[in-house]
Amino acid sequence: MRLIERTGMAAMRRIDPETAHGLALKALAAGLVPLAGGPVTSERLRLRLAGLDLPNPVGLAAGFDKNAVAVGPLSRAGFGWLEVGGATPRPQAGNPRPRLFRQPAAGAVINRFGFNNEGAAAIGARLAARVRGPVPVGLNIGANKDSADMARDFARVVEAAGAGCDFLTVNVSSPNTQGLRRLQAGELLAGILADVKAARDALPHRPPIFVKLSPDLDEAALADLADAALAAGIDGLIATNTTQARPDPAAPHAGEAGGLSGRPLMAPSTRVLARLARLTGGRLPLVGVGGISSTEDVWQKLRAGASAVQLYTALAYQGLSLAARLARELDARLAAEGIAHVSDLVGTGIDDWL
Ligand code: FNR
Repeated sequence: MRLIERTGMAAMRRIDPETAHGLALKALAAGLVPLAGGPVTSERLRLRLAGLDLPNPVGLAAGFDKNAVAVGPLSRAGFGWLEVGGATPRPQAGNPRPRLFRQPAAGAVINRFGFNNEGAAAIGARLAARVRGPVPVGLNIGANKDSADMARDFARVVEAAGAGCDFLTVNVSSPNTQGLRRLQAGELLAGILADVKAARDALPHRPPIFVKLSPDLDEAALADLADAALAAGIDGLIATNTTQARPDPAAPHAGEAGGLSGRPLMAPSTRVLARLARLTGGRLPLVGVGGISSTEDVWQKLRAGASAVQLYTALAYQGLSLAARLARELDARLAAEGIAHVSDLVGTGIDDWL
């Protein structure tokens, strides 16, 4: 971490976490944050994921840039791909503050934002107007909490914002919208995915569709979902969103409602990833997200079956420079271990996580 980043992060830790994140995004959008200059890339790291060309497998997870206000700078931070949003059809204020809580000793946060966002039209306009570069940018899509038809909302976001997106992520796994996660049930999900696919197929560039899952699903529910995803012909699965579990009930704010992310999520989310890898048997690319805070964590997600990864919470503790560092260190470790391409590591350690 550079001195300017370290000083900025130390100042941020003294203020309310949501205010700190808002300031960090503003500084980023204003060009005040030092950046790597572009995506880290090499022959070993460059890969194709669900038809997308990624300079490297390290991505930004949804929720960091909910309104797509800093896509340009984020594309120069070292990431190989970005997911912005979640977007809902209509703008939405989200839950009352405070709704973001830090657990610094655990490297974790609890959030219950509840899809606060400017709505699909505003976010879609920003995405459509962006300067396209080598880093694919996708949109996380959700439902309005007061929607008369939550299942239909996903396709409405695609209709309003899909034109500017390189990929789409159907988020049926946020714990912060009442009734959203029940849409993960096989039959309901099949209907949503059919609608989303129809909306996607109406777009000339037909961006790939991912489905993002909760880490709190049992084996039977995971098997149902894997079947529904395969039957629907979607392009990939993202595992996982935040957890409602509290592995350490004595941690600060553990009693707050919301989803826990960061280091304590690494093991449970990687176990879900490995189960999905077994269930799908290479028929669908998987994305590993949840608790990544080091290159070893990236390595483990890839071994557990992820073709690419995403992260968010560790950036709040280690700074945005973490993105480039993880990609560079992954490249160096692949070289050191004589692995010619990152895809050669994918799924080599699934059993270790089951
Ligand atoms: C999130 N996450 C999230 N996920 C999603 O699908 N849509 C969203 O809008 C959000 N919003 C959001 C806000 C905040 C404050 C956090 C911390 C997280 C979940 C995120 O994308 C990721 O799946 C989890 O945070 C797990 O990864 P990390 O943070 O442990 O690397």
